[in-house]
Amino acid sequence: MSPRKIIIDTDPGQDDAVAILLALASPDEIEVLGITTVAGNVPLALTSKNARIVCELAGHPNAKVYAGCDAPLTRKLVTAEHVHGKTGLDGPVLPDPVMPLQDGHAVDFIIDTLRSEAPGTVTLCPLGPLTNIATAFQRAPDIVERVQQIVLMGGAYFEVGNITPTAEFNIYVDPEAADIVFRSGVDIVVMPLDVTHRALVTKARNDAFRAIPNRVGPAVAEMTDFFERFDLEKYGSAGAPLHDPCVTAYLIRPDLFSGRHVNVMVETGSDLTLGMTVADWWRVSGREPNALFIGDLDADGFFELLSERLARL
Ligand code: RIB
Ligand code: CA
Repeated sequence: MSPRKIIIDTDPGQDDAVAILLALASPDEIEVLGITTVAGNVPLALTSKNARIVCELAGHPNAKVYAGCDAPLTRKLVTAEHVHGKTGLDGPVLPDPVMPLQDGHAVDFIIDTLRSEAPGTVTLCPLGPLTNIATAFQRAPDIVERVQQIVLMGGAYFEVGNITPTAEFNIYVDPEAADIVFRSGVDIVVMPLDVTHRALVTKARNDAFRAIPNRVGPAVAEMTDFFERFDLEKYGSAGAPLHDPCVTAYLIRPDLFSGRHVNVMVETGSDLTLGMTVADWWRVSGREPNALFIGDLDADGFFELLSERLARL
């Protein structure tokens, strides 16, 4: 089977970094057509720098990285240095990137790629706020039906919010963009906090990363050493939740994940619940299902896959 063509839209972020590393370590299953950056965890200049740092860490200096939107569609940018550190990639000491950003805007790359590749052959993998994706859909409505699938990290239902009592960060930063994406009609797979909070980097799992005999494993362990502070303090969890790698792991081993096709809508009007993903898990709304909302994973299988693939880099 030929590898799946994807565009990773990202706001690195330590967990974004692991998702990108997993994708680049899996060429039999995934062909990364390009990486598009968006403002989110940290401002755009840093997410664009971090994406290239990660590509070079993976030994992929020829990966194509395009800078995208530096602010949400209509709102002021909210960032998450309190989680990811002021660089967005705190933890390991990694060299500044040598590889350049590609010329051109990320949104134009998304549009041009979807128009030039055969319809239904490109999967979009958003790992941050959905600003770039929504902007591309607004600017070029013809590309929407050409998207094979969207597999995104974002949202929460039973797990409720991590940035407000009701909203997960990626959706909260740009709820209008998320609303556009969830109403687009594209086949969507959602990796919400409901599942990512079960993908915890326990000490044993991080020691396994640290023991990988290359420069990637120890770097990932140091990223997690830093990244876990927020969740350990807030939730008392057993380790850092690897949110974004659930997206790329799903492309490789969908059997590790389970969920339900339900209707998911995004709150954009209420200040109290802004950015909440209202998942009609018990199908009471009468609204058409528009997403596969993932609720669980085989965590041991997920981490075995991660360790095995990171060791390939
Ligand atoms: O809420 C978790 C999400 O927000 C992850 O994608 C993390 O990288 C941040 O972007
Ligand atoms: Ca992210």
